Amino acid sequence: MAETLRFGIVGCGVIGLVHAEAIASLPDAQLISVVDINPQQAQKLASQYGARPYTNLQHMLDSEPVEVVIICTPSGLHGELACQVMRSGRHVIVEKPMEITREAIEEMLQVQQATGVKLAVISQHRFDQASLQVHDLIEEKAFGRLVLGNAIVPWWRSQQYYDSGDWRGTWKLDGGGVLMNQTIHSIDLLQWLMGPVKSVFGYTDTLVHRMETEDVAVAVLRFADGALGTIAATTGAYPGVTTRIEIFGDKGSAVIENDRLSFLHLVRDDKQSISSYGVAPQEGKQHEDTGSTSQNPAALSASSHALQIADMIRAIREDGTPLVDGYEARQPVEIILSIYESARIQKEITLS
Ligand SMILES: NC(=O)c1ccc[n+]([C@@H]2O[C@H](COP(=O)([O-])OP(=O)(O)OC[C@H]3O[C@@H](n4cnc5c(N)ncnc54)[C@H](O)[C@@H]3O)[C@@H](O)[C@H]2O)c1
Repeated sequence: MAETLRFGIVGCGVIGLVHAEAIASLPDAQLISVVDINPQQAQKLASQYGARPYTNLQHMLDSEPVEVVIICTPSGLHGELACQVMRSGRHVIVEKPMEITREAIEEMLQVQQATGVKLAVISQHRFDQASLQVHDLIEEKAFGRLVLGNAIVPWWRSQQYYDSGDWRGTWKLDGGGVLMNQTIHSIDLLQWLMGPVKSVFGYTDTLVHRMETEDVAVAVLRFADGALGTIAATTGAYPGVTTRIEIFGDKGSAVIENDRLSFLHLVRDDKQSISSYGVAPQEGKQHEDTGSTSQNPAALSASSHALQIADMIRAIREDGTPLVDGYEARQPVEIILSIYESARIQKEITLS
């Protein structure tokens, strides 16, 4: 296999640019072509990164020796385009969400199996140092019996944001609102850390924006191992507040704020036993961020994306499995679709 893998990007909008930056930061990856139905968008990204522009994916696949294609289009197009790429024998990385319906996800998994190419789905926060550290500690059972896991996403998106693309906030192409678009990262982390979700009950509403889908949602969760959890999310919280993932067990607790481990306290590290009332939060270990990009989400985004693209390169070279393959990426979408169903029929939904 060539030392440098050749990449293509489909969809040259906000996140297409982040992928181009991420590829450029990797020594063994090269962006050679980009596709966008909007010729100006394709031309702009292509000239910035020395790639060839296309307005049609099939033309690009027929003409370019790409080995990996990254799908960065509106979410409801991910399946169709990813299947086209896989059927051409190329590996594919798909932006989150993997797709917005169970049927489309099923087809992607079937095409991946039939073609034998690699399929990875972006969930870049799994590659943050804080997430990896907490995941390792959970594997070591350092938190003891997990009892509660929360994901809190009080974000702000202006009406202008929803109006900036006709697919945003629609059922057909965004597949949902704050849960499917923004909170999927935190839902994926929560279920990766706490284990599979068994059942959900949710409420959703649209309180601030002119859009079809929800801009506020809450859900209660029961995890397969018996622990409980909550999700609270909105894009109507001006000016936008830190994302929190909270993991609580009877031998330790951790809080991740944005990409940073802001609290970690494990019984195994205690030099003396603590009182029956525990410790006040400020006495817990507050971990300072070690990354230089913590105040700059855009920069962090490209670096976490680069780690995930590097993981795909590893999987291709070793003929292994990417950390977030199609089966992994299906989980958060399944949780979100179940919350939507619960909110619609006002009943608890058990996940299959
Ligand atoms: N991982 C993350 O943190 C993250 C962040 C932002 C967006 N995303 C995901 O990335 C995807 C794109 O989001 P965005 O904000 O970049 O959207 P965007 O609207 O800025 O860009 C989408 C681009 O796709 C192009 N496009 C549409 N249909 C196409 C087709 N059939 N073929 C080729 N190009 C096509 C559009 O012209 C546009 O330039 C979404 O699925 C979104 O959920 C992920």
